[in-house]
Amino acid sequence: MELEKTSKPDLKNWEKNLLQRFSQYKESGLKLDLTRGKPGTEQLDLANQMEGLLKGKMISLNGTDLRNYGGQDGIPEARKLGAEILGLSESEVICQDNSSLTLMYLYMLHAYYHGSQGPDTAWNSQGEVKFLAPVPGYDRHFAICEELGISMINVNMLDDGPDMDAVENLVRNDPMIKGMWCVPKYSNPTGCIYSEQVVDRIAALGKISGPHFRVIWDNAYGVHDLFDNPKELANVMDYCRRHGTEDNLILTASTSKITCAGAGISFLGASEKNLQHFRKRLEVMSIGPNKLNQQRHVLFLKNIEGVRAHMSRHAKILRPKFAMVQKHLEEGLGDKGMGSWHNPEGGYFVSFDSIPGLATEIIRLAGEAGVKLTPAGATYPYGKDPDDKNIRLAPTFPSVEDLDQAMQVFVTCVQLASVQSRL
Ligand SMILES: Cc1ncc(COP(=O)(O)O)c(C=O)c1O
Repeated sequence: MELEKTSKPDLKNWEKNLLQRFSQYKESGLKLDLTRGKPGTEQLDLANQMEGLLKGKMISLNGTDLRNYGGQDGIPEARKLGAEILGLSESEVICQDNSSLTLMYLYMLHAYYHGSQGPDTAWNSQGEVKFLAPVPGYDRHFAICEELGISMINVNMLDDGPDMDAVENLVRNDPMIKGMWCVPKYSNPTGCIYSEQVVDRIAALGKISGPHFRVIWDNAYGVHDLFDNPKELANVMDYCRRHGTEDNLILTASTSKITCAGAGISFLGASEKNLQHFRKRLEVMSIGPNKLNQQRHVLFLKNIEGVRAHMSRHAKILRPKFAMVQKHLEEGLGDKGMGSWHNPEGGYFVSFDSIPGLATEIIRLAGEAGVKLTPAGATYPYGKDPDDKNIRLAPTFPSVEDLDQAMQVFVTCVQLASVQSRL
């Protein structure tokens, strides 16, 4: 039944049935959680073999004692692995400890206070710094800007990446816009892959921006395909080289959702000139990363082919979970005009847009019925979704059975909030 075309008496009846179902859920004492964008235990188990791999291998092939201090850039073998994942050469990649978010944070601090190319280039010496935030997007990117006092400007995400007409217009007319967040493959949360044309236009932004503009290319889901023969993401550094904008690009990735979410290795890629400056921060911060963990990762994953083979085992676990979410959305909301959603081919999320103004209420209802959802607004800077419509669903951590239940509740709550809003 389509919401728009339903008569008032039918809506009343519909509401009555939904309320009945809703109170059954409430009484059944469910405790389900769709907020956690983290790997499930079964996925983590795929990397259990890593545990014993270091036996007799704590000295690297070139004689470096991996147990000791030093090796600021990470071990060469791990840098090579990162370079293959990011599509760069080894000299453009450094490998660090478990979190790429830490590297993004550090890079932003570096560019803001110290200057990406020396003290004269520090953003904070140039006025009020602004950043572009494709929305919906990743809350932790936004948190970094918020903490630094960098004001964010929303730009809509389209099916092929950020709205580049809007981006170019903003960047061209405001030299204090110093950068832009990007999750180019299986974007968090919409799951879109930036098209080649969008990648090219992003690579060219350094030609129309103010000085020291940085695209933060967070390729967190670069190898997280759900299906064989996935769409390829264009190599952004190749485009930057063509435009002469290599210095305007910072790339990151990690093995957080390849091996162990809390004990992986991370990569930062950039032009050699950018890396030279960034190293100064690393040198103050530590006397070298955890090289044993890097060695363990190289022994386990070996190279990009090894990564892809491993990720296909993740995909096998994840496909039924994503399929369960889609099944409920299609069956429960398919023909009702109560929202729209994405059907991603990889990544960690499903992005749902309710009828504008209803996300907060849907999330409140779901919470009451025992299903925790990511707070409304979380996918927008400052936690403010101007249309109060986006809800990020994270299907990776719960079991397929729990997802089945949680999605029934979710669909009921979307229907209930939508019907009540019509009444
Ligand atoms: C887009 C994006 N970037 C980065 C991260 C965090 O990565 P890491 O574990 O390497 O810090 C996440 C985790 O959810 C993410 O979704």
